[in-house]
Amino acid sequence: MKVVLLGAPGAGKGTQCKSIVARYNLLHLSSGDILRQERAEGTELGKKAQDYMDSGALVPDEIIIEMMAKAIEKAPAAGFVLDGFPRTVNQAIELDQALVASGQKIDAVLNLEIDDNVVTKRITGRRSCPECGAVYHIENLKPKTEGICDKDGTELVQRSDDTEEVLANRLETYHQQTEPLVDYYKKNSTVYNFDADRNPDDVRASMFEKLDVLVKTRSAGSVSNHELRGANDEI
Ligand code: AP5
Repeated sequence: MKVVLLGAPGAGKGTQCKSIVARYNLLHLSSGDILRQERAEGTELGKKAQDYMDSGALVPDEIIIEMMAKAIEKAPAAGFVLDGFPRTVNQAIELDQALVASGQKIDAVLNLEIDDNVVTKRITGRRSCPECGAVYHIENLKPKTEGICDKDGTELVQRSDDTEEVLANRLETYHQQTEPLVDYYKKNSTVYNFDADRNPDDVRASMFEKLDVLVKTRSAGSVSNHELRGANDEI
């Protein structure tokens, strides 16, 4: 199964991806995590991406497309969840062309809908583990010991682009360049919209409900948009 997760910064893409990949045995491919890893390792790619990321702009398509093509090549047959990629219509077209060339396609697009004013609180309160990538929030999802990762005891950090000023640029970039992907995918795939301003467990349950149907339908035979009841639904 090949899934794309769409949503503004702080919509909860990373949070939900962790549960989705665990339930359906998929690979989580986060373009943001891969870029941060490249930066931490001081690679050429990481250096090229640094200034774009710190200002809230998008890293140029040619860099991202090559990076994600390599990551997708290594994905298991069970499939993957793309988190943060594609982020422009051009990236989506390139992705579709690469998948079609190898007889594949995106099976579902999960779109997390949320207001800009809700994500500001989420983003400025986010803390993450630089070691295992676990994500916390200083109010909504506290670690057992303040500032320390529950899983490996590492000190939690705040992302350098999680300031109000950079977030404003990230949101503007999202509305201008990424939001049009919803319409792109409505024409080319199956889009499910989810109200992301709910408890994370409720968002997760809504997603599982749709993906369970997709998995069942796929294992029963070929999938078509007509067979998938509720496609392009608002949940
Ligand atoms: P990236 O790392 O992808 O950042 P993003 O899209 O801005 O998304 P975030 O990771 O900030 O948010 P999220 O939706 O994953 O939220 P999370 O689950 O953590 O990209 C960073 C940068 O890299 C970009 O700006 C760009 O420069 C570059 N880049 C990446 N991909 C690119 C591409 N394809 N092309 C070009 N450039 C690219 O949740 C946030 C917080 O909210 C957490 O604290 C969490 O605990 C909390 N939370 C989550 N869900 C809920 C809920 N339901 N209720 C309450 N709190 C919640």
